[in-house]
Amino acid sequence: MDDPLLSPFQLRHLTLRNRVVSTSHEPAYGEDGMPKDRYRRYHVEKARGGVALTMIGGSAVVSPDSPPAFGNLLLYSDEIVPWLARLADEVHEAGAAVMCQVTHLGRRTSNYAGDWLPVVAASPLREAAHRAFPKQAEEWDLDRITADYVSAAIRCQAGGLDGIEIESYGHLLDGFVSPATNHRGDSYGGSLENRLAFPRRVIRAVRAAVGPDFIVGIRMAVDEDDPGWLGFDEGLTALRAYVDDGIDFVSTIKGHIDADAPLARVIPSMGTPSAPFLQFSAAVKRAVDIPVLHAARIADVATARYAIREGLLDLVGMTRAQIADPHLVRKVAAGQEDRIRPCVGASYCLDAIYDSGDAKCVHNPATGRELTIPHEIGRAPRRRKAVVVGGGPAGLEAARVLAARGHDVVLFEADTAPGGQVRLAALAGQRRRDLIGIVDWRVSEAKREGADLRFGALAEAQDVLAERPDVVIVATGGLPDRSFLDAGQDLVADSWDILSRATAPGAAILLYDDNGGYPGMDAAEFLARAGAAVEYVTPERRLAPDVGSMNSPAYLEVFARHSVATTLAYRLRRVDRIPDGRLLATLYSEYARHEVGRTVDQVVVEHGTLPNDDVYHALVPGSVNGGAVDYPSLLAGRPQPVSGHGYQLYRVGDAVASRNIHAAIFDSLRLCAAI
Ligand SMILES: Cc1cc2nc3c(=O)[nH]c(=O)nc-3n(C[C@H](O)[C@H](O)[C@H](O)COP(=O)(O)O)c2cc1C
Ligand code: SF4
Repeated sequence: MDDPLLSPFQLRHLTLRNRVVSTSHEPAYGEDGMPKDRYRRYHVEKARGGVALTMIGGSAVVSPDSPPAFGNLLLYSDEIVPWLARLADEVHEAGAAVMCQVTHLGRRTSNYAGDWLPVVAASPLREAAHRAFPKQAEEWDLDRITADYVSAAIRCQAGGLDGIEIESYGHLLDGFVSPATNHRGDSYGGSLENRLAFPRRVIRAVRAAVGPDFIVGIRMAVDEDDPGWLGFDEGLTALRAYVDDGIDFVSTIKGHIDADAPLARVIPSMGTPSAPFLQFSAAVKRAVDIPVLHAARIADVATARYAIREGLLDLVGMTRAQIADPHLVRKVAAGQEDRIRPCVGASYCLDAIYDSGDAKCVHNPATGRELTIPHEIGRAPRRRKAVVVGGGPAGLEAARVLAARGHDVVLFEADTAPGGQVRLAALAGQRRRDLIGIVDWRVSEAKREGADLRFGALAEAQDVLAERPDVVIVATGGLPDRSFLDAGQDLVADSWDILSRATAPGAAILLYDDNGGYPGMDAAEFLARAGAAVEYVTPERRLAPDVGSMNSPAYLEVFARHSVATTLAYRLRRVDRIPDGRLLATLYSEYARHEVGRTVDQVVVEHGTLPNDDVYHALVPGSVNGGAVDYPSLLAGRPQPVSGHGYQLYRVGDAVASRNIHAAIFDSLRLCAAI
């Protein structure tokens, strides 16, 4: 039977080859605000991978007083046209359509970016997420911004794109529509008709400028889903008015995005139900007769197929799913659905924009690095024997990639189950369970490529050498670090003890997090849910700086519900047993230069790991390279230079130093893809 997901779709004059879309998202891969080589290759990869329509320029900005908040493309510059043209040509060559999202960010940006022009909004209300105090837009602002939308649309058309999508949630246009953000007393405020006046003027002007043969869609909050915000009925009225003004399709959003918590509901992460707004989008589809596109945690092919088969949507957005695997559609078409690298919903992609400058998939380091790192692993010129020690994310990735290169791979993992710290994180609770997809996919792919994965097999140096390897990858991970304590290392538990259930939670707990990432927050959540009274202490000046705005809401919800106390800017120095059997934790403020004490039942520490590297050091003397990695070759994607006899030896992941999942997998991918 024909797959409904693969059936073509007619969007006015534009034929889309199937129903799968990569919706607008800004990965911050632009350079100087332009979609240069990196940006282009990222989208071309999806086009080659089978997507029907790729939307570029998430929130591409139309005016200089909408400065880039997260690496946005600058549609107000003519310089962008040739870059758009090159991108459009290559995406078209690969069989996909391409459009660009256009916007004025309104208050969703900073007063201290770009040209430092004052941020503008319908009303002077601060947006919590970006923290700019905006000015209230004046008539002359609306005139010039309308003209800027028109110029931006014309640039997209001149660049050969198939269309544009006007953004209308959380930005300037919808700021006028929503009663929550429009407090104006003039002809742009009050009644819905007044609130729609400015967006309608923009849409009409754009349609008039680009003519009928260019697709103009809208991505809008049809329901802002909170008391005092835009409701469904008014949202539908707005959409119908926009259709009258010349809108060709709608991409549906439910909710608002002005702060971390509501944004995390609009773009749901792991631990939330699949496709939460599918029925809502279907209701929109029943109410209007333009095509409806929708994306929000439709991460698996079965749900996407269901949405199309049942006529709930015309086009289905699988955006993070294709960040995780840009070849998703190709694999569906080839009957290889089980080989799709799953999007586990970690939303590291989104958090990385703010935290490390650009989007990164937690377990696909090739995404966004297409210029240097392949998504598909090619065969090596010569088959070699490779031994991998350790079956955490770094070790499994090494085994997968080396096996895909055609090598003869043996992996030893001491534990009876693979996954290392990822398995531990997935154990933290129902909410983080999907992380196990990172492990399961690698195990399945490595086995398919013929790797011999031996679990429950502790390997010493002699076990490795008995395999007569040409290449050894040591991925033995790390062990929790308590060495920072002046006293009491044997009195404390660590986050591994807690998450693995090896140590039961006490009643009153001080959790000390000097990692600032997920393990400490997972432990805090676990302990709080277990009913303990938890004080979370960190030497940082904010909570868990490595847990970004998409992931912190779920933890903060638990903190609020279970009254977790937080203490910033204190360092745990020592833990002592006091006569009544309880523990005294001594905290030190580097600011006040004083000590304070806490008496608790249990102290749990999270301070990263120290390398578990005995096997590595035992293997160094017999190796041809002494364990050295030639960084210029690594970074250029070239094989490691070696001369002489003996095995090549490398270590990866936390066996080197305590880092995150992405770093561990990236270590292995870029090294092993060139072995
Ligand atoms: C890195 C990243 C950046 C995004 N930026 C935008 C944006 O600029 N504009 C927009 O409308 N949506 C943006 N989104 C939201 C996506 O278009 C999509 O709605 C969201 O990821 C939910 O769909 P999914 O579950 O299929 O990923 C972004 C998403 C990601 C992952
Ligand atoms: S980081 Fe997580 S949510 Fe984002 S694409 Fe990768 S697996 Fe999906």
